[in-house]
Amino acid sequence: MLFDPRPKTEKKDLYDRERELKEFQEALKLGENIILLLGIRRLGKSSLLNVGLKESNFPYSKVDVRSLYFAYGTIPQDVLARKIIESLLASEKSLYLTLRKILESIKGIKISGIHVEFERRQDLPSIFERIDLWAEREGKKVVIAFDEAQYLRLSGVRYDGLIAYAIDNLPNIIFILTGSEVGMLHDFLGLDNPKKPLFGRQYEEIVLDRFTRDESFDFLRRGFEELNANIPDEEIEEVVNRIDGIVGWLTLYGYLRGVKKLGKEESLISLYSKAKALIEEELSHILAYSKRYKFILKAVALGNTRWKNIKEYVEFRTGRINDAKFSNLLKNLVKYGYLEKRDGEYIIPDPLVKEIVANLK
Ligand SMILES: Nc1ncnc2c1ncn2[C@@H]1O[C@H](COP(=O)(O)OP(=O)(O)OP(=O)(O)O)[C@@H](O)[C@H]1O
Ligand SMILES: [Mg+2]
Repeated sequence: MLFDPRPKTEKKDLYDRERELKEFQEALKLGENIILLLGIRRLGKSSLLNVGLKESNFPYSKVDVRSLYFAYGTIPQDVLARKIIESLLASEKSLYLTLRKILESIKGIKISGIHVEFERRQDLPSIFERIDLWAEREGKKVVIAFDEAQYLRLSGVRYDGLIAYAIDNLPNIIFILTGSEVGMLHDFLGLDNPKKPLFGRQYEEIVLDRFTRDESFDFLRRGFEELNANIPDEEIEEVVNRIDGIVGWLTLYGYLRGVKKLGKEESLISLYSKAKALIEEELSHILAYSKRYKFILKAVALGNTRWKNIKEYVEFRTGRINDAKFSNLLKNLVKYGYLEKRDGEYIIPDPLVKEIVANLK
């Protein structure tokens, strides 16, 4: 179902994304060692990753790094290692036994079904080595995917160095990393930063974009048709005008209107209140670093698009701030994906975020 609000896992439920899926499969076939899947929140990165992995016929492991971070406040190495193994075991049907055998040859690892227990501390490099060895013996390449990989930076472990080690020494492992905080992910990986361990490595980048107006319209049209819901074109048009081509919001509207069968106004109200809760929760994590982020976003949402005007607004609300410090906060918001800079002007790329921050107290 197109309007299922969970990340999609089946190609039949994924609207379009043909180009991106093709790039995904080509990058795998070409043997790229690092593939990045980028795009702001709710554009369908996790869905594309799920479907791409499933369609690829490669053994794979997928870990949601963001949820690990929220569960632990950091990314503990042994938890990450366990999740990697469990997900790989779950994806591998035909070669499960050989995989299990090779992993159980590491001292202190106990496996039952797809559950893994460590009876002593394990380190990720040894586990990667075994996975690589297994892949080599089976004549396969294994994909290790980290969804929202920028959260790997928020840990005492140098995961960038660890990935660099694997890339350089374990030729049968491919990494796919997604990120909605695109700048943060790039900073963390440092593929173009000579001071970082991953510098200079080849990588492939797949960038997800918003749906165009026509695609957004067609997406809603088809989703409602699938549910036999008779929704007039004018309504679809109006929704697309208000929430643009962000597939996550379109899906949520479709779900409320077509599956929950709320009326148009009720669906919009419910969409806004769910979006508000979600966006405020997401913002709370960056506001913990600086309250000024809120006023910067608010300034932009209220129509101040230039550095100088944004700064004036922020100073009016929070008092003086020096130029360098202010520029740094602004840059961070771009890295987090909350702002985009186009021709010297700042914009908020998601219209619901824009509307919600404009109304923040
Ligand atoms: N191509 C698509 N066709 C149909 N539904 C989609 C598509 N892409 C995403 N969705 C839906 O949009 C919502 C957001 O998708 P998903 O979680 O994959 O995005 P994301 O970019 O990973 O979001 P986040 O930044 O929150 O992690 C989900 O409800 C998902 O089912
Ligand atoms: Mg996601």
